[in-house]
Amino acid sequence: MLKCQRSLFSITKEYVYLNCAYMSPLLKSSHDAGMEMLIKQSFPQEVAIDDFFTPPEQLRKAFAQLINANSSDRIAIVSSASYGIANAANNIPLEAQDNIIVMDEQFPSHVYVWQKLAAEKNANLISIAPPTTSENRGKIWNERLLSAINDKTKVVAIGTIHWADGTLFDLKAIRRRTREVGAYLILDGTQSVGALPFDVQEIEPDALICSGYKWLLGPYSLGVAYYGSAFDNGTPIEENWMNRKDSHVFQDLVNYQPNYRPEAQRYNMGGLSSFIHVPMLTDSIRQLNEWGVEEVNDYCHRLIQKPLRQLKNLGCSLEHSDYYSPHLLGVRMPKGISMERLQDQLQKDRIKVSIRGNSMRIAPNVYNDRSDFDRLIESFKKVIKE
Ligand SMILES: Cc1ncc(COP(=O)(O)O)c(C=O)c1O
Repeated sequence: MLKCQRSLFSITKEYVYLNCAYMSPLLKSSHDAGMEMLIKQSFPQEVAIDDFFTPPEQLRKAFAQLINANSSDRIAIVSSASYGIANAANNIPLEAQDNIIVMDEQFPSHVYVWQKLAAEKNANLISIAPPTTSENRGKIWNERLLSAINDKTKVVAIGTIHWADGTLFDLKAIRRRTREVGAYLILDGTQSVGALPFDVQEIEPDALICSGYKWLLGPYSLGVAYYGSAFDNGTPIEENWMNRKDSHVFQDLVNYQPNYRPEAQRYNMGGLSSFIHVPMLTDSIRQLNEWGVEEVNDYCHRLIQKPLRQLKNLGCSLEHSDYYSPHLLGVRMPKGISMERLQDQLQKDRIKVSIRGNSMRIAPNVYNDRSDFDRLIESFKKVIKE
């Protein structure tokens, strides 16, 4: 059973940081891995050819292990979720009047690209709205999605969970239905992979793209993406030299090479060796592999039981437990509470969560402990009692 891992991070007790869905604090070991390479960059004679190729391969291997992919060549290194999603969107043979399905209020990096594609191809972008009532909201939202998938659907492009309120989507059922109608399934895993188990061999998405700076505990500006066989012969959005076969043979670089490296390797971003960021993200994903994502999820689960009971007793409401994961909770506030006042109080008490509409998004991770939640509840009580 995993214990609190706060000592592996630099965060202090001064703040209660319950906002990993915004940005993860760095592991001390990731920080050190980045510093080592920052220093090395001041002495370029020490940067070897091997530094271009071996660290990215280590990152691909670590992520392949995390999501149970059977080949690290299926993993590309990307700068952001939007970059990885653009590579998928660029290779979907969309025709006029085909449907692309997204969820309401989805994160914009996974919406603009589909808006653009739909406009270019005269296709339809359909956004699935949740019910307005809170009872069975997650269940009904999932049902609405499933019943919208039909023979006209070419792409279902959704998050593995909803980024703003944490609603879980039934990925197995969605994959089954997309297969029945021959639609692509393009998943943005940024808000769950690393904190909620994801098995790529079980779900078999066509692509799974993750920005690295949230639940993968990595630095900003780097992510990882899995592409399935549907994209094996696709056209990448840029033509970087490293993505071509034999690019490690520096003396042959201008014997221009028509062939790409295998599987997803054509989709790596330019500058994929990103000397500082790659070792940092590798370090953090290795740490997740060492803990085990199930353990991370279980830790968060144990941590939130008491505070959730307290919040409910104070009039808050939450999604049915089948439709949220303990790492990202959209807690709906009782009627009449001033969200501005709540935000002020949390600020005063140095508590970091996200306020979205009438909800408080709480996103704990393994560096949080009971005392963090005690402080959150105390702060919340001050607002309620007024
Ligand atoms: C679901 C989701 N995807 C992606 C991102 C980040 O997007 P990008 O990597 O394109 O900047 C966020 C940031 O909040 C997010 O919540």
